[in-house]
Amino acid sequence: MRIAVVGTGYVGLVTGTCFAEVGIDVTCIDIDQKKIENLKKNILPIYEPGLEEMVARNAQKERLSFSTDLATSIQGCDAAFIAVGTPPGEDGSADLKYVLAVARSIGQNMNSYLVVVTKSTVPVGTANKVRKAIEEELEVRGVDIPFDVASNPEFLKEGAAIDDFLKPDRIVVGVCSQRAQEVMKKLYKPFLMNGHPLIFMDVPSAEMTKYAANAMLATKISFMNDIANLCEIMGADVNMVRKGIGSDVRIGNKFIYPGIGYGGSCFPKDVKALIRTASENGYEMKVLKSVEDVNENQKSVLYNKILNHFSGDLAGKTFAIWGLSFKPKTDDMREAPSLVIIQKLLEQGAKVRAYDPVAMKEAQHSLGDSIEYGKDEYETLIDADALLLVTEWPEFRSPNFNVVSKLMKEKVVFDGRNIYDATDLNEKGFTYYGIGVKQ
Ligand code: UGA
Repeated sequence: MRIAVVGTGYVGLVTGTCFAEVGIDVTCIDIDQKKIENLKKNILPIYEPGLEEMVARNAQKERLSFSTDLATSIQGCDAAFIAVGTPPGEDGSADLKYVLAVARSIGQNMNSYLVVVTKSTVPVGTANKVRKAIEEELEVRGVDIPFDVASNPEFLKEGAAIDDFLKPDRIVVGVCSQRAQEVMKKLYKPFLMNGHPLIFMDVPSAEMTKYAANAMLATKISFMNDIANLCEIMGADVNMVRKGIGSDVRIGNKFIYPGIGYGGSCFPKDVKALIRTASENGYEMKVLKSVEDVNENQKSVLYNKILNHFSGDLAGKTFAIWGLSFKPKTDDMREAPSLVIIQKLLEQGAKVRAYDPVAMKEAQHSLGDSIEYGKDEYETLIDADALLLVTEWPEFRSPNFNVVSKLMKEKVVFDGRNIYDATDLNEKGFTYYGIGVKQ
């Protein structure tokens, strides 16, 4: 089989590479010439564990190629995946200009039956707009070429995207014809070895599934953050409560870790978009509005603890920050809670020295020289008044606290992800603050 994937960002590149990995002939297309030139030299625009090697291997086997030429690349394809960005517009709604521009370009150039698949996260109703755009272009050309539009939302987690694609929990595809269903079935057959389902449904339901999944996960997190804050007030320990409720299979033990709020490019954007879609259609998403509120507040929880500990006087104090990215195993800084915390500390005249295993370059784009960047996690600690654990990278989980204690001026740890044991740290002479645990 042969496919084209338009857009070589995070979703497009992972999708294209994983399809190539199972033997499908893939061309990844982008209008950004520099990006394509780099990809041809195996220079990737994003960091994702394992992706670089996989791109190199499949390019070498000539199953994966890169091009700026959509017109040629889509000829003879069974399907064309649209995986371009949908940046939030000023009002928070997803901007579809790139998606629709690709649809037009497909309409201008396709010469045989094609399934056009929306892979970008797009509001319910977008597939219809894509269909219309293609129809209009075919009409301009005066040709009648059959095509179908399908919606195939992605459920990849940054840092685990390859595994998520190769061994998916489920694949959701919205189709409106048997012919399109057959093409999609053939394409995804190699990924169904683990017995997990390929679920076909109508197109609007597939589009909605993506938002409902992310909104549900964001709800779980905000709910647990709310419970964590109440635990603190009531003298309970959220780590215990989490274990207590998570062992009920109806609740499950995943995505119930309290912290400093969810970030990234998906949850904040998708929660906003769903609230908006609802309100545009005369409905109010009351639960999701609270999910957003709780998340905004949660980004200040660690900072408030710091302010309290230092009696409101942070001027001249030095804070060591471990972890900048919105979560481990990614360099993604979008909506990272670290940015909110750092800004608040700087506003109070504090000094910040941070270390992140991969996100420092990315962080510099938004933070510039306003903070110092440590060479490693230990260097950030020299003469620090407190350590802030912001992102739970594996290498921060079990540091040598004897070394930590010698390097720091004050032995205070603010643990935004509850990865350390309070009793253990207290015994080592540290003052410990977690989220939703007894201080
Ligand atoms: C999320 C979804 O998990 C994917 O299924 C989805 O495909 C993706 O969005 C998307 O729409 O593209 P991602 O944003 O990469 O994936 O990251 P997650 O691992 O879901 O984490 C999101 C945020 O929630 C992070 O800030 C993380 O720290 C936070 N989180 C997660 C918690 O605070 N507690 C938890 O228990 C789990």
